[in-house]
Parts: sequence; structure tokens; C-alpha cells
Amino acid sequence: MSHLPRLLKIISVAAKYQLHRLSPLTARSWIIRIVMGIAGLPWTGNAVRLLSPEQRLRTALEELGPIYIKLGQLLSTRRDFLPHALADELQSLQDRVPGFTSPAITTIVDAALESPWQNYFSYINNKALASASIAQVHEATLLTGEHVVIKVLRPGINETIRQDIIVLKWLARLIERYVPDGHRLRPRDVIADYEHVILGELNLLSEGANTTLLRRNFEHSPVLYVPRVYWHVSRDGMLVTERINGIPVSDVVQLQAHQVDLRKLAETGVEIFFTQVFEHSFFHADMHPGNIFVDPADPQNPRYIAIDCAIIGSLSREDQQYLARNLLAIFKRDYRKVAELHVECGWVPKTTKVVEFEAAMRTVCEPIFEKPLKDISFGYLLVQLFRTAGRFNMEVQPSLVLLQKTLLNVEGLGRQLYPELDLWQTALPFLESWNRRRMKPSFLWRELKNTVPDWAEQFPHLPQLILNSLNQHEKVAALNETLQTLIAQQRQQEKRRQRRSRRLLTLVVATALVIGFLYFTQ
Ligand SMILES: Nc1ncnc2c1ncn2[C@@H]1O[C@H](COP(=O)(O)OP(=O)(O)O)[C@@H](O)[C@H]1O
Ligand SMILES: [Mg+2]
Repeated sequence: MSHLPRLLKIISVAAKYQLHRLSPLTARSWIIRIVMGIAGLPWTGNAVRLLSPEQRLRTALEELGPIYIKLGQLLSTRRDFLPHALADELQSLQDRVPGFTSPAITTIVDAALESPWQNYFSYINNKALASASIAQVHEATLLTGEHVVIKVLRPGINETIRQDIIVLKWLARLIERYVPDGHRLRPRDVIADYEHVILGELNLLSEGANTTLLRRNFEHSPVLYVPRVYWHVSRDGMLVTERINGIPVSDVVQLQAHQVDLRKLAETGVEIFFTQVFEHSFFHADMHPGNIFVDPADPQNPRYIAIDCAIIGSLSREDQQYLARNLLAIFKRDYRKVAELHVECGWVPKTTKVVEFEAAMRTVCEPIFEKPLKDISFGYLLVQLFRTAGRFNMEVQPSLVLLQKTLLNVEGLGRQLYPELDLWQTALPFLESWNRRRMKPSFLWRELKNTVPDWAEQFPHLPQLILNSLNQHEKVAALNETLQTLIAQQRQQEKRRQRRSRRLLTLVVATALVIGFLYFTQ
């Protein structure tokens, strides 16, 4: 019940902007229509309703505050199930909010270090360098003279997020259960994804650990620099890193003023990304312009600087294989191969009709290949691949979705720097060398060595395993019958339970409505 005021606020904002009309699924539900109709009464005839549906959602999220802005930003990257107009609108959500001044940063540092800040720092700037919904960054200098930045969490942010996530999960369950076809919006997945991202951002120590590993992966690299973490002054809720100087990657005018080779810069960006994906299997997954800077010291060989490693992606060997082999096949427009790979590797059920899968891929990809190769988006092709595979019952791994989102960002950044950027040319060598390496005897030998210990362990038990499996056969037949009866009984019980809870929910919503209505029309 402590979440009721927050819930009512969400309902009232959703009603003000008539958000349920955004999706035919929610627009059809009679419960939602009644709730929105009544809760939206105070705003009937209001000008906000003249905005486009996409603008209404963006404005509503801005009105609900930073946590919802973040949710909107996350949604904006889900082009695999959002219409593009909506994704574009959500992308314009800005996460910069006024900084907090109380408690003072020095007080926070004192508390985190459990000693006066002067024992470690010679200077801390009270005014924030940057401030967002979750964290705030201040410039400082260590006693040893190094220029650093201190990143701290907003006071009370843990609790706010915890409450918001409870409410959002509740809403997601409601949509899934009571909105006809609501599960197609995958609300619970969206919120789980959001929770994962936001919890990652709350954990500054894990951000520090990611930064350290990324730095190690690119030690002595001429193309990417990652700032050092000062662990001796970092604590739970406070991360201290080396202060970097660079031109924000989105500031093309300044980059040009420094005569930075933009083509080289764009291509290097793609190379770094594919190195992270295929060589290290550890990629920075929050590649928006605020996190990427450029060191123009050598403008012909510019070096990137990456900060804010809160969100990191990692691909399993199987994911890498999926990505490399399918992208190569798509590149050759060999849709039969794409379909065969899906069945062969067990990514889709063995019963899938290869011809149908092939035709589906051809239908979505061929129009894309009408464009010159350099204008084709990798990220968008992946969206199409996942959508098609999804229709054939493949569960796309979250790590691949994260990769596809990052790829869209990388492409966006690259093309902003150098519109002629040919991603295929830059990426192809990575995909091919990965594929070649897999076929090398040394690789196959390593794979064999990894699996042989399992065989050796299983071998002495083989006769027993065979016997078990024979006995199993008879038992299974008898069990099957009992199971069918049990399943039928359970289904009936489940139906009864659903009817009961639906009645209960209608009652709760109606009560909440009345309270909400009284609350907001006071
Ligand atoms: N090491 C650093 N050196 C210089 N500026 C930094 C550094 N870290 C962060 N900043 C500045 O603070 C902003 C926000 O930091 P960031 O770590 O990206 O926080 P958030 O998680 O809020 O995006 C950055 O966009 C950058 O301008
Ligand atoms: Mg950032």
C-alpha cells in the first residue's frame, strides 16, 4: 500500500496523455479504457491530447521523472519490437537533471571514506561537473597530485528505484495478465531488462571493476584509452577515476577544428567494437556520445577514450558463433544457409521448415539490400534476423539483444562522423578471421580437450546408463497416463484460480480508481 501514491501518479499521468491508445492491445481492453476514461476526466479537452501519440509518451515519461526517462531511453533501443517513429521520439529524452547540493559532496566523501576527505584529496569541486538521474560527477585532485573525478550516487536513489521497480513489475504483470494479447508486448521482459541495467548503474564498484578490465584489455592500445580507477579511494556508492581530457565524439565541429581524420576515426570505432565482441567477449554496451571522447593529440591517428562502463555485454562462444556465421551468410545473401544454420545448431526446433524460414528471411532482407552496401545498417539487419527467428520460436538471448542495441549506437556514431562509412568492409575481416580460426586444428584440439574429460567421467557408468534408459521406457509409458490426468486436473484448477483473481483485481482497480479520482481532483 506504501506504493499507492506512486501508482496513482502513474495512472493519472497515463490517463492525462491517454497512453493506453498507443497500443491496440491496451486500447482494446475494457478495464483499461474505463480506468483511463475516469482518471483522465480532469484533462478532457486539454491541449496535450493534440500531440502525436509518440510525443505524448515522451512528455508523460518526462513528467514522471528521471527513472521513467531512463526507462524510455532503454525502450528507445528496442527497435526489435517498437515502431521506429516511437523509438526516435524516445531517443530524444534527455537525462541531464539539476545537480543536488545537499548533502555537500565533501560530506558524502567523508562518510564513504570514514575519515575527513582532506586525508586523501587536496581539492574537491563542490559544483558538479555533470549530473544525471542516478549519479553525479565532481572534479577533484588527490593528495598525490593526480587529477580525478568522483562519481557518487544521488542521495536516496536506491530506495526510489526499488519502489519504482516494484510498481513497474506490478504494472507489467497486470498488462500481461489482463490486457488481451498483452504478453506480446513482453512487459515483464522489458522491466527485467530495465532492472538489470539500472541495478548495474547503481553498483559503482562493479562499474569500477568493468573499467579496470576494459583498461587491461586495451593496455598500450593506440586506438582506445580507458581511465584508471583509484581503488584506494573508491567505496560502495563512490567511484574515483582518472580525469580525462577529450573532445566529445558528437562534437564534429571541434574534431574538424583539430583536423581529426574523421574517416579513420569512424572506421577505428567499428574495429574497436568488433575487437571487443570477437576477441575479448567484453564490450562497452553504453556507447552513447556522452560516454565517448576523442584524444586529438595525433589527428591522423585519433584515439578514443571510453568512460562510464556500467553496462557491459559479453557473448558466449555460442552467441559469437550465431552472430558471425549468420552475418556472413546474410552478407552473401544466402538465406538458405541462414535457415539451415538455425535448424542445424538447434537454435530453432528441429521440425522447423527450412524453406519457410528461408522465404521469411528473403522477404525482410531483400528490400534492405536494394540500397548500396555502405548504407545498410548491420543493427537493423540483426533486428530483422531476431524478429524472423523469434517467429520460428527461437528465444533470442538477452546478450545478443544488448549487442544489437550497441551495434545500432556504434553505427549511428560512425555515420555521424563519416556518412560514407562502409560497415561491411570494416567488419568483414573480423567475421571471416573468427570463422577461419574456428576451423584451425589448434582450435578444434582445444575444443576436444575441453569436452573429453566429460566423456572420460561418463564412460564407466555407460552400461548402467543404458540399462536405466531401457527401464525408463516402460516407466515412462505408465507415468504418461497418470501425468495426463494430473495435467487435466491442474488446468481446471488454474482456470478457477484465474477467474477468482480476475474478480479480485477488478475490485482492487475499482477501489484504486475511486481513491485516485478523489486524490487528484482535490
Ligand atoms: N573520468 C572523467 N574525466 C572527465 N570527465 C568525466 C569523467 N567521468 C565522467 N565525466 C563527465 O561526467 C559525465 C557523466 O559521467 P558518466 O560516468 O557518464 O555518468 P552517467 O552514468 O551519469 O552517464 C560525462 O559525460 C563526462 O562529461
Ligand atoms: Mg554516461
